[in-house]
Amino acid sequence: MKKLTMLGFGNIGREFFKKIKKKKIIKNILVRKIKKYDVLFIKKEINKKIYITKFYKNLEISKIIVETIGGDKTYKILKKLINIRKINKIITANKNLISKKYKNIIKLSKKKNIKIFFEAAVGGGIPLIKNLIYMNCVNFYKIFTIINGTTNYILTCIFNGFNKKKSFKITRKKGFAEKNINFDIKGIDIAYKLNIIISLLYNYYIKIKNISIEKLLIPKEKIIFLLKKNNFLIKYVGEIIKKKNIIDVSIFPIIINKNSIYNVKYEYNFVLLKSKKFGKLFIKSKGAGRYPTSISIVSDLFSKIKNKFKNLRLFCSNRIIKEKIFILIKKRRMFNFYYKNVFKNIIIKEFKKNTYIITKEFLDSKRIFFFNKYFYKELILRIK
Ligand SMILES: NC(=O)c1ccc[n+]([C@@H]2O[C@H](COP(=O)([O-])OP(=O)(O)OC[C@H]3O[C@@H](n4cnc5c(N)ncnc54)[C@H](OP(=O)(O)O)[C@@H]3O)[C@@H](O)[C@H]2O)c1
Repeated sequence: MKKLTMLGFGNIGREFFKKIKKKKIIKNILVRKIKKYDVLFIKKEINKKIYITKFYKNLEISKIIVETIGGDKTYKILKKLINIRKINKIITANKNLISKKYKNIIKLSKKKNIKIFFEAAVGGGIPLIKNLIYMNCVNFYKIFTIINGTTNYILTCIFNGFNKKKSFKITRKKGFAEKNINFDIKGIDIAYKLNIIISLLYNYYIKIKNISIEKLLIPKEKIIFLLKKNNFLIKYVGEIIKKKNIIDVSIFPIIINKNSIYNVKYEYNFVLLKSKKFGKLFIKSKGAGRYPTSISIVSDLFSKIKNKFKNLRLFCSNRIIKEKIFILIKKRRMFNFYYKNVFKNIIIKEFKKNTYIITKEFLDSKRIFFFNKYFYKELILRIK
């Protein structure tokens, strides 16, 4: 395994460090301010020094970067590093960066041939991104989700009898809340995550200002008492509805029954995806916290997706063909390849009636090396 450079050593970075320190693949760690206890801890664990980000020029940066700084300022830092060093792979937990700079990142990654992984950016430990990539040929018309662990933790505390101040304090102490809790309460964090989901499922980007966001207002104790008495709870949810070419995104607090499947507690999140043909997909897991989030980063780090297939998607206007490819791939036990996003840029054109070919753009690209001739031929023949 190649060595890596870590950016940031906070809540998530530190946990990630603990998980992989024994593998001896950390080349260096860059932080904003050097803290004595971090220096001692790192020295003791891996006998390495810790450096300050702004002095990156004098450092030997690895080809793999794990970014756990947060915020979109990291884009500038990453860009600088990319310009001075050959970077192969960037793994980030930063939804802000991926959502706001999605187009720039895709462009940059294609230009510089960099793989970008961001499983941890949406829903912490929920294996969502990989599933969305795998499912991007399914026409989901509705996504309903609790995808912000911070507000879910706060609301759980409040309905467990803590006041607002104490609930915020506990959530912060547990490491679920980031420095600016307003991002969570005002729905911005959810908006970023929904935007990433939209980009992956529909290849579309929605400006945050076009998302209907209702801030989470913590009700007075009297109201909470009444809700609890009647077996009701408040949850802060996000919803994406796609009707033909219109994507409607909203974020709002709702009242749900205590026994509803949507009643996920504490840092747990869920994502419900609905499709007319595929049916429902419900994923629930821990959506925040250093442990599940760092697990997602580690999983991205050891993911074996080939560089050539990054950030591409399956473009195909004909749904039936798309589904047939999908079945064929599964039958040929190419499931793993599909899962790893190999088939994202197969552009299909009609050759004769009911016979389809993979276009020149695809053949011209080096990506073909993944398919042996036999498979390729069969693919053309069988898609009828
Ligand atoms: N916490 C969660 O449950 C959770 C869940 C999913 C995803 N995430 C994402 O994970 C990322 C990290 O979150 P976190 O909770 O670990 O945040 P954090 O505890 O605030 O850690 C951020 C770290 O980055 C450092 N940093 C800030 N500016 C820097 C710079 N210019 N160069 C190098 N280091 C810099 C900070 O140092 P200082 O302390 O000196 O500022 C701090 O050590 C964020 O993108 C967040 O959205 C977090």
